[in-house]
This record gives sequence, structure tokens and C-alpha cells, in this order.
Amino acid sequence: MKPAVIISLFVLLGLCAAVIIGFRPSLSSPLPHDDEQSGLKERITIKFSHVVAENTPKGLAAEHFANLVAQKSQDRIEIQVFPNGMLYSDPTEVDALKRGDIQMIAPAYSKLSAEAPAFLALDLPFAFPNQQAVDEALQGDIGRTLASTLEEHGMKGVAYWTNGFKQMTDNRKPLHKPEDFAGLTFRIMPSKVLASQFARLGAKTAFIPFTEVYRNVEQNSVGGQENTISNIYSKRLYKVQSFMTLSNHGYLGYAVIFNKPFWDKLPADVRRILQEALDETSLWIGMQAREINKLQLEEIRKAGTMQIDELSEADRQSWMQILEPLYGEYDKEIGHGLVAEIRKLRERYSAP
Ligand code: LMR
Repeated sequence: MKPAVIISLFVLLGLCAAVIIGFRPSLSSPLPHDDEQSGLKERITIKFSHVVAENTPKGLAAEHFANLVAQKSQDRIEIQVFPNGMLYSDPTEVDALKRGDIQMIAPAYSKLSAEAPAFLALDLPFAFPNQQAVDEALQGDIGRTLASTLEEHGMKGVAYWTNGFKQMTDNRKPLHKPEDFAGLTFRIMPSKVLASQFARLGAKTAFIPFTEVYRNVEQNSVGGQENTISNIYSKRLYKVQSFMTLSNHGYLGYAVIFNKPFWDKLPADVRRILQEALDETSLWIGMQAREINKLQLEEIRKAGTMQIDELSEADRQSWMQILEPLYGEYDKEIGHGLVAEIRKLRERYSAP
């Protein structure tokens, strides 16, 4: 036999074998059932973007929530967490949520105030004498009213997560008396109440996204800022600011929000799993946040890079007196009912 004929015979035999062994199932019978494939088809992925580090109350809450959801849904729902502003920073995350590019965010209250001015209520200075007062406000009518104001903007508020009280830091001198603020510039979150707070103290302000605070403070384009201990620690602000006053003058926490059309379209059992995991995470982070802020304050003290002072009771009274008019100034914009509720709560928790 000629070599060409032999080669052709081999090719023909090879093709027959391939049809019989390799391609047969697809030609003659349906694919066998594959559990993995049908699971994947039903899988729901939720992109959750936030701006802080993983070792902060919000960073830890996000991971805890993602794990709970995976467990409860047997991996049917996946929460993909994007920390540190790696996807979107403050000025863009609300718009990205509304467009549906991401499904979930947890901004600090101030960052919602441009869309939903009622959230300015939570920036009022000295509104909450302690964490219990914050919890009562957010778990009750105040929290429900605030969440309802998000709906017309295509956002669904599903939980509140704790961080803690804000402290003042700066690079020039200890901030004890209101007059110590004169001439300084402070980085603030985008909130008219926060701008007015510093204006009443004689200071200037600049809205700066969280991801750019360190650079601005380090390069001295702002002299100071206000934040929780966990943010001052995780952003290493304690290395580039010389003074910190433990003032607890304001509160920083998070509204956990979904894109509303996305939330509304989720099957009821999926919404139930998410809500259960959110509620459990709110309780969990409530306990963790206090501890994290306490431990990280110790770390900052150990680093020895800042002078740290407690605000004295007399100085606290002077700050409060100067800042009290903000309640009247913002009564209309926030809504009279909400401001009145906050005042009542404050009086109840401040009573000796
Ligand atoms: C800030 O911008 O200072 C904070 O809102 C950051 C955060 O999310 O805790």
C-alpha cells in the first residue's frame, strides 16, 4: 500500500474513534445534570463598595455581613466587598449606586445630606450624649424617617452600622477653647452642618474625599480634621497631626443602602436572608466598634506622635453654647419634627 493511502486510513480511523468516544454524548443524548452549573445560574452577586480600610468598624462589618450571607444562602448569594475606595470614592459612590453599577454602599450620614438633607440632623453638634442615645434614635422613629427620605432618590436604606464619636485633630496647637480654632482650615465631609459648625468656631473648611485626607493633611493644605479614632488610626492621620482633643462633639455612623430597583426585584427569600444578615451585623458591629476605637486609641497613645487631651467640662460647655444656634438655623432644612425629636432625646440622655 502507498504511504498516502495508509495515512488517509489512519485519519479516517481517528475520526471514527473521536465520534464514538469523544462526541457521542452530545450527538445522541443530553448532557448529564451538573449541580455546579445550575447553582451558578441562580447565583446572585452584590457589589458592595466602601471607602475605609478592612480593619475599621465598617470594613469588618462588611466582611462579617458577606460571610453571614454566604453561610445563610449556602453560597447562592455572593457579596463582593470593595474596600478603601478602590472602586468608587465618596463623591462618586452614591451616583454609582443609583446607576446600578454597584448594588450596595454604606456611606457616613453626612455624605447623604446633599440628596436627603434630613440626614444633616445626625451632624448636629453634641446631638447624642452617648451611644445609647444614637442607638435609640436610629432604631426608632428618627431612623425610620431618615431611611424613608432615601426612597425617592432610588435608594433603599436597610440598616445602620456603628462607628463612633468624632474627635478633633490639628497640626498647630491644642484645641481647647473655641478661639483656638480661629484661622485654621479643617477637612470635612460634604455636609452644610459641618461647614457651619467650623464657621461658628472661626475656622475655614474644605470638602475632601476620605481617600485624599491623608495626602492633604500631610501636605498641610488643611491644618486639621475631625474623625473617629478608628479612621484616625487606620488612615495614619495620627502620624501627620500633632494634637488631638477627645471631644466626642459629633457622631459618625453609616447608612447601609441598596439600589432600590435592585432590592425590590430580589426574590422574597433572598431579601429575607439579606435582612437577617444585616440585622445580625448591626448588633455585632455595635459591640465591636466601641472596642476597636478603644484599642486603636491605645495604639495611638503608644505611638507617641500626638499630644492627646480630653475636652474639659467647662470647655465643652463653651463649644456647646457657640454651636447651639445651628439647631435653629437648620430646623427648616432638616425638618422641624426631626430636630425636635433629637432635642428631646438629647435632654433625656443628658439629664443627671
Ligand atoms: C470620612 O470621610 O471621614 C468617613 O466618612 C469615612 C468613613 O466612611 O468612615
